Amino acid sequence: MQATKTYRSVGEQSPDREIALTCPRFPSTLQKAMTLMIHPDGMEVSAVARMIEQDSHILDRMLQIANSRYYGLQRSVDTARRMVVLLGPVTVSGMLVAMDLLKLRDSFDAETESYFLKLMEHSAATAFIARHIAETIRTSPGGSDLVGHQHVGESFATAIVHDFGRIILLFNFPKHVDALYGNLCDETSSISEIRARELDYFGCDHITVGVDFSRALRFPEVAVDAIRHHHDASTARHPQSTLDARMIRVLACAHSAATSMGFGFPCQRSEAESLSDGCWADLAKLDLVDNLPADIAQKTFETKAYVDEYVSVMIG
Ligand SMILES: [Fe+2]
Ligand SMILES: [Fe+2]
Repeated sequence: MQATKTYRSVGEQSPDREIALTCPRFPSTLQKAMTLMIHPDGMEVSAVARMIEQDSHILDRMLQIANSRYYGLQRSVDTARRMVVLLGPVTVSGMLVAMDLLKLRDSFDAETESYFLKLMEHSAATAFIARHIAETIRTSPGGSDLVGHQHVGESFATAIVHDFGRIILLFNFPKHVDALYGNLCDETSSISEIRARELDYFGCDHITVGVDFSRALRFPEVAVDAIRHHHDASTARHPQSTLDARMIRVLACAHSAATSMGFGFPCQRSEAESLSDGCWADLAKLDLVDNLPADIAQKTFETKAYVDEYVSVMIG
């Protein structure tokens, strides 16, 4: 499906003109795999295997990843079906979502590709950490009443597309990216400054673009909500949102941790800065579980070696 949306820029960089953004062509499995992760009931091994078999390049790459040291399988796998059986349908569907997004890599030249890959590393790290936090909550005493297996898959699926709007902006304006994001990190810019600059250049920020295009591509509503709210997790409840408040906060914490582990986009932050983020206190305050580890932030930072390895296997 190809979608085009028009925005009106009124900023200093491109005063009063219409800016049309085009959606790249993604494999149809992107939407299907995300939907399966968010609604895993009845997810069948053969259905997931069939999705992967649709593209021989993706199948080869996924088998390579499945056979990497990261997954530590005792025997090598050489079929999609066996990979799904051994790694599980949700894990493999998450891998497929990442591979489908990474197909855009060919649209960039040598100069602009590094920005796209940095963004994908940011997305993969955030997804890994979100799943880890959701799993930590699920396995805490009393946690499984509030966070089930479905939420764990959902946390990964929504986190990997949370900056979908930036993927669309990069695809449409690869040459502007350096001017837009390049020098921001010297200025320790806040997210509101970054969004203001996006607005100035394009007449829209990555939230608006992400929501518009993810809707056009019929992403599950919960993923659209993650895209909409990933920078305002402190808002109490998001009553109109289908994404549960606790999952928004998990995503905010994952985002904060990824940014302090060297996977920020566009800027990196220190661990101390991340620790002072309100999202960790919000997570602890939630009516989640009585026994959520008090040091959940610290425990999350301790996963850095796994995050590094995961990102290098998936995106490297
Ligand atoms: Fe992000
Ligand atoms: Fe963002």
